[in-house]
Amino acid sequence: MSKQKTVFICQSCGYETYRWMGKCPECDSWNSFAEEILHTAAKKTGNRKQIVEPPAELGQIESQPLQRVQTQISEFDRVLGGGIVPGSAVLIGGAPGMGKSTLLLQVCGQLTLQSKKVLYISGEESIQQIKLRADRLSIHAESFFLVSENNIETIIAVIDHASPDLVVLDSIQTVFSDEMESVPGNISQVRYCGHRMTAFAKQRNMPMIMVGHVTKEGNLAGPRVLEHLVDCLLLIEGDGLHQYRILRTIKNRFGSTNEVGLFEMTAKGIVEVENPSAHLLSEKRDNVSGAVVTVTLEGARPLMIEVQALVTITNYGTPQRTATGLDYRRLAMILAVLEKKAGLRFGNQDVFVNVAGGIRLQEPASDLAIAMALYSSLSEKAVPDDLSVIGEVGLTGEVRSVSQIENRIHEAARLGFKRIIVPHRGIKSIETGSRIRITGVQSLEQAIEEIF
Ligand SMILES: Nc1ncnc2c1ncn2[C@@H]1O[C@H](COP(=O)(O)OP(=O)(O)OP(=O)(O)O)[C@@H](O)[C@H]1O
Ligand SMILES: [Mg+2]
Repeated sequence: MSKQKTVFICQSCGYETYRWMGKCPECDSWNSFAEEILHTAAKKTGNRKQIVEPPAELGQIESQPLQRVQTQISEFDRVLGGGIVPGSAVLIGGAPGMGKSTLLLQVCGQLTLQSKKVLYISGEESIQQIKLRADRLSIHAESFFLVSENNIETIIAVIDHASPDLVVLDSIQTVFSDEMESVPGNISQVRYCGHRMTAFAKQRNMPMIMVGHVTKEGNLAGPRVLEHLVDCLLLIEGDGLHQYRILRTIKNRFGSTNEVGLFEMTAKGIVEVENPSAHLLSEKRDNVSGAVVTVTLEGARPLMIEVQALVTITNYGTPQRTATGLDYRRLAMILAVLEKKAGLRFGNQDVFVNVAGGIRLQEPASDLAIAMALYSSLSEKAVPDDLSVIGEVGLTGEVRSVSQIENRIHEAARLGFKRIIVPHRGIKSIETGSRIRITGVQSLEQAIEEIF
């Protein structure tokens, strides 16, 4: 016997309440509550004997080394911590059109080349659509099975029957269970189906990769519930206008969360970028004003990026400020510091700053490069081509130290940069050999003096 109860569940974070609310007290989102009917099993009465497993003593448990399956797509293996772990549940999130299905189809293709049996279950596309994509990506594999299905009970029966070495489910939001009354995509359906798939993967010691959609705000739909369930959460990001895609580890029970993989979207599918810094700088023009190269960190990985600034006299009305690939407020702050501390005037100038390649600068370590690009464009003086700039700018015009400076300098040296401007603090301890000349600066003015 089961009982029914009506609850309201926040579709954004899973918060449950018995009355409708306009704003979720947990995640502050508005109009996110939907009515759902839950079935609760009636409590069994009577004396039920339970079989209790005694706790295992740590020393008595046999260690079993992780047997990871390498996909041969090294950027993908890297974000997973070295390959797919048997029995693990992986969730890949990303905005529409980011290439989730493409990447996973390629992963499946690679595994079938290693004589693994894979099962690709799509709740969104017909098998003909997937076949078309597979043809475009030149995947013609045996032991690659496709199913177009939405019902979780059927899906589990199919997996059970096929016993594959890897299951891909695209996407978790499209599957539903007959045991729940809410519509597919509702949080209780997502939670229930996610839980069943994860438990099934563990029980069969079979890896399971699920696709998760991302909401308008950039969160995974049903985020927290799914995040807790899976062993590994990856996000695929990119800017729709550029071909680059970054695959980021958000959670990993079997490896570091500092890993990122860089890919490029092409007609032949998603291609890994082996030397990202060289790739990102390949279109840089030499000896032009307004362009500065900096080293930013994507996870633990140094990436060389070109920051471009264009400062021109304002012809109409209020001066414009446009920032692409960086926070607008950060740009406003850097402009204010340049005015106050370096005596520059931007009051009658339009200012545009752009990060080449569609990469987004998330960390303040690129402040000094932005400031130097602005100065370079305003003064029409080019920054030497073999020079790179790193440093955070403080409100008093001081240049502050940044994390992992040695890694960043190594990357610049590796790409043949001859000189690098870095924060003064801590440079004595840096050991990089003599391939690159390191200059420490304490303030914006000092950086301008050193470079121009
Ligand atoms: N014929 C093509 N040539 C080049 N690129 C293509 C072609 N068809 C699709 N693409 C690229 O593939 C992307 C879509 O990839 P995919 O369907 O794997 O994304 P997705 O993340 O699974 O999207 P969704 O969330 O809608 O399922 C498009 O944005 C486009 O960049
Ligand atoms: Mg898709």
